[in-house]
Amino acid sequence: MRDIRLFGDPVLRSVASPVVDFDKQLRTLVQDLTDTMLEAPGSGLAAPQVGVALRVFTYNVDGVVGHLINPELTLTDETQIGDEGCLSIPGLTFDCTRALGVVAKGFTMYGDPVVIEGTETLARCIQHETDHLDGVLFVDRLDPDTRKAAMKAIREADWNGLSAPLVKESPHPMFGRGF
Ligand code: NI
Repeated sequence: MRDIRLFGDPVLRSVASPVVDFDKQLRTLVQDLTDTMLEAPGSGLAAPQVGVALRVFTYNVDGVVGHLINPELTLTDETQIGDEGCLSIPGLTFDCTRALGVVAKGFTMYGDPVVIEGTETLARCIQHETDHLDGVLFVDRLDPDTRKAAMKAIREADWNGLSAPLVKESPHPMFGRGF
């Protein structure tokens, strides 16, 4: 279990480095990301969200738990609009437009090439997590009015300025929407 970094932490705005060594340390990172994501609970978690600037994320969508390293995405032209949240911006969700489908090429923690194809929630998750690896947050993807509302809500959030959320509800109301 690792602490999830919150909006305002500079690591969330850094561009993560590609993984070069597919070693035991990487497998520990993937395990820790998975455990932390499931405990939150969340639908996805990227390494920068636990303070590690590497191109690694995990996902938990429709009962499938997995991970991807050094992702490269191809997006469909067709889009979807839906509620999106982020474990680094706890308790807040906003309508966010994303590509409907994605083909994500990358590697497993053992260094084997892998391709993940997804639509709807899985596609949204993969786009959200890959954004994290580039220092991009979902609030950056909102239309201008929604983004203004989101920034106001973040400023007023009780966790703003804290290093980690003090209170966790169970069951967590964000389940299925927090990435
Ligand atoms: Ni997120």
